This record gives sequence, C-alpha cells and structure tokens, in this order.
Amino acid sequence: MKYTVITGASSGIGYETALAFAARGKNLIIAARRLDKLEELKTTIHNINPELDVILCTVDLSVTEEVYNLYNKLKGYEIETWINNAGLGDSAFVADQNLSKVETLLRVNIESLTILSTLFVRDYAEEEGTQLINVSSALGYAIAVGTITYSASKYYVSSFTEGLAKELELKGAELKAKVLAPAMTETEFAKNATDLDSFNYKENLPMYHTAKQVAGFMMEIYDSNAVVGVVDQNYEFMLRDQIYPIIEG
Ligand SMILES: NC(=O)c1ccc[n+]([C@@H]2O[C@H](COP(=O)([O-])OP(=O)(O)OC[C@H]3O[C@@H](n4cnc5c(N)ncnc54)[C@H](OP(=O)(O)O)[C@@H]3O)[C@@H](O)[C@H]2O)c1
Repeated sequence: MKYTVITGASSGIGYETALAFAARGKNLIIAARRLDKLEELKTTIHNINPELDVILCTVDLSVTEEVYNLYNKLKGYEIETWINNAGLGDSAFVADQNLSKVETLLRVNIESLTILSTLFVRDYAEEEGTQLINVSSALGYAIAVGTITYSASKYYVSSFTEGLAKELELKGAELKAKVLAPAMTETEFAKNATDLDSFNYKENLPMYHTAKQVAGFMMEIYDSNAVVGVVDQNYEFMLRDQIYPIIEG
C-alpha cells in the first residue's frame, strides 16, 4: 500500500488536490488542524472510491514538536508522494504586521516545510517513483509590496525546493523535488491573510483560479519532469526548469 501525504488538506488547494489524487486511485494521508474538515474530505473521497485508505492526521504545523510527531507517526506507511501545501499569508506593511501571526507564518511556511522535506528526503531519496512537491506561490518569484513577509517566505520555499531538486539530480537520486507556484486562488487564504470574516474573490480581483483548477496544475507538475509549475502574470500555468540560478560545487 502506497500513500500520498498532503498537508493543509482541510480546505482550498490541499482539499482539491486530495480529491484529484483520490480520482487517480491513490491512498491518502491528509493533515491539518481541523478534524471535522478532514472527516468531511474522507467521506467525499469514499463517495468517489470506497476502496481507498484515508488516514487523518490532526497537527498544528506551527508547533515544532508536532511537526516531528507527524513524521514519526507516519514511519510505518510507504509514502510515494509528499506534498507540503499547508501555509498562510499576511496582508500588512512590515511596520504594521502582527508579529505573533508572522511567527506562526514563518513556522508553518518555512520551518515545518524544511523539517518535513528533510526527513522525507532522508528516508525516500533512493525510492523509485517518489516525489516531494512543495507549494510556493507566484509571490515566491515576484515581491508583492503589502505582503512582503509572506512573499519572502515563499521565496524560501521556491529556492529551497529548486536547490533540493538540483542536489537530488546531482546525486542521481530517485526522488524528484518540485515546486508548485499558484497565483491568486479562491480559497480561505485571502480571508485569513487579511483577517476579514470573508473575502469575495469575484468582487475584489480581476483574475484568479479556483482551487480545483490549481489541483489540476498540481497533477500536471506531478505527471511531468519539470521542476517548477508556475502561474504567470496572465494567469497562464507553465511548467519550467529551475528558475533561480544555481551555483554548483
Ligand atoms: N490562495 C491563494 O491565493 C494562494 C496563492 C499562492 C499560493 N498559495 C499557497 O497554497 C497553499 C494552500 O493555501 P490555500 O490557498 O488552499 O489556503 P487555505 O484554504 O487557507 O488552506 C490552508 C491550509 O493550510 C492549513 N494550515 C494552516 N495553518 C496550519 C497549521 N498551523 N497547522 C496545520 N495546517 C495548517 C489549513 O488547515 P487548518 O486550518 O485546518 O489547520 C488549510 O488546510 C498555501 O501554502 C498558500 O501559501 C495560495
């Protein structure tokens, strides 16, 4: 039995990605804080395919100890694909940003992703057919004023993952590391980033994708040999080789 792990599967891109992998007949390990949302997803997956094994993991990825516990709990499963998708944004100028929220953002977007990527690479680098997909953002390739800390956290995700992809390639490893970099996507993200009760994408944004469309992009990069899948300024999805320059040696 092989499994696909998806963090941040309780809503948005992670939720739709879980459904897309379920449609491919993949067993799933889905992680987030909200158990009720994970249970709802499990029911929806079993309506599509009752044969699939779906493991629920409640975890707060802003707590370092819980990140290690999540990985250790999954030691007994054979994992084929690991997707670090959980993340949060913050819409504020630097001087105005809420540092408590920023600490959480840095822990989830950067620290947990680094720990989970490292442990997965350690165990699976030589396993054929394995993939690590880290969810960055179009703002991991272009700085957005008004949300610089979030943007910089996604620069980290992009450069860490692109560098890891090169490191694995140079070692001749079986594991492939890839970056998915969506642009504005209709999820709970904007509401949480702005600390509003709700956010109307249609009224506030000229262009955006649905979470289902982005899950489709996830499957495109999953099926490809590309290192980066990025949404450009025209909202076109492109598969690319490494974008950041790499210095070898
Ligand atoms: N929406 C966009 O416009 C957009 C654009 C580019 C990139 N992205 C990236 O796409 C990824 C998914 O975001 P989304 O748009 O789908 O937003 P979302 O609907 O808000 O989903 C975020 C997911 O992350 C989980 N999460 C947040 N904090 C967590 C924590 N402390 N511990 C565990 N899980 C946590 C949430 O689950 P719980 O709340 O249940 O814990 C939820 O499942 C993020 O990395 C985001 O940066 C989003």
